Amino acid sequence: MGEVELMETSDFFEGRQGQEGEPMTPLAQRNPDLCTACEAPPDARCLQAEINEAALCSLILDLHDGLVQNLFAAFSQVHSLRQAIAREGAGTETSSLDRHLRRIGELIEASLQEIRSFVGAFGPEELGEQDLGAMVEGLAMQREDLSGIPIQVEVAEDLPPVSLPVKIALYRILQEALSNAYRHAQARHQWVRLFQANGSLHLEVTDDGQGFNPEEVLGPGPTKGSHLGLRGMRDRVRMLGGEFGVESRPGQGTTIRVRIPL
Ligand SMILES: Nc1ncnc2c1ncn2[C@@H]1O[C@H](COP(=O)(O)OP(=O)(O)OP(=O)(O)O)[C@@H](O)[C@H]1O
Ligand SMILES: [Mg+2]
Repeated sequence: MGEVELMETSDFFEGRQGQEGEPMTPLAQRNPDLCTACEAPPDARCLQAEINEAALCSLILDLHDGLVQNLFAAFSQVHSLRQAIAREGAGTETSSLDRHLRRIGELIEASLQEIRSFVGAFGPEELGEQDLGAMVEGLAMQREDLSGIPIQVEVAEDLPPVSLPVKIALYRILQEALSNAYRHAQARHQWVRLFQANGSLHLEVTDDGQGFNPEEVLGPGPTKGSHLGLRGMRDRVRMLGGEFGVESRPGQGTTIRVRIPL
C-alpha cells in the first residue's frame, strides 16, 4: 500500500475523506466498539484530578529504589552462576544451562533498561518541567534507534502544560504503538503527530505496514491470547475521559488516534 495520509487536525474525529478517496463517516459511527468514544463516565475527569501526583512520584521512586536494586542483585547472581559454569567446562548439560541463564540475564537487563528509561522520563526532577513535546520526540528517537524504522515526528509548538497522569498515559501509548508497528507491521515508515485542537490534546501514530483487523482485537468478547497492548491504550485513554480509535485494514497500514480533553 501507499503511505497512510495524515489527516487534518480539524477532521480528526469528524467525517472526512478516507485513504482511498471514499467519504468517511466519523470513527465512532463506523465502529462504536473500537472508537470507545468514552461516553464520558461522568466522573472520569474528576478521576484524573484525583490521581495524586505526589503518590505517583513516590511510586516511581519506589520502582527505582526497590525493583532496580533487586533486579540488579538477581543479575549479579546470574552472572556469578555463569562464571561458575564456565569454570566447570562445557558439557552438553552445562551449555544448555548456560543458554537458559544467558536468556534470564538478558530479560533482567531488558527490565532494568525499561525501568531506567521510565524513571529517566518521569524522575522527580523532571516531574514539573518535563516538556511533553520533548518527551515524545525523545521516545521516538529512542525507538527509531532500536528499530531502524524512520519516524517522522510533528509536535505542535503551542502545547499546554499537562498533568503527570496524562504525560504517563501518552508516553505508554506511544511506546506501545511504536513497538506494535515494529513487531507486527513490517512498516517502512512511521509518523507521530502531537497537537492541540478544540480543547483537546491529540496524539496520532501511523505506520505504513501490513495492517490488521482491529475488531478482532478490540471487538466485544474476551481478549484472544495475551494481546493486552491495544486494550491497555484504550483503557488509559478512557480513564482520562478521552477517545481512542484504531484505523487499520489488512494491507493498509495502521493509525492510532488518541484525544484527551485538556
Ligand atoms: N501497527 C500494527 N500493524 C499490524 N498489526 C498490528 C499493529 N498493532 C497491532 N497489531 C495486531 O494486533 C494484535 C494485538 O496487538 P496488541 O498490542 O493488543 O497485542 P500484542 O502486541 O500482540 O501483545 P502485547 O500484549 O505484548 O502488546 C497484534 O498481535 C497484531 O496482530
Ligand atoms: Mg502490543
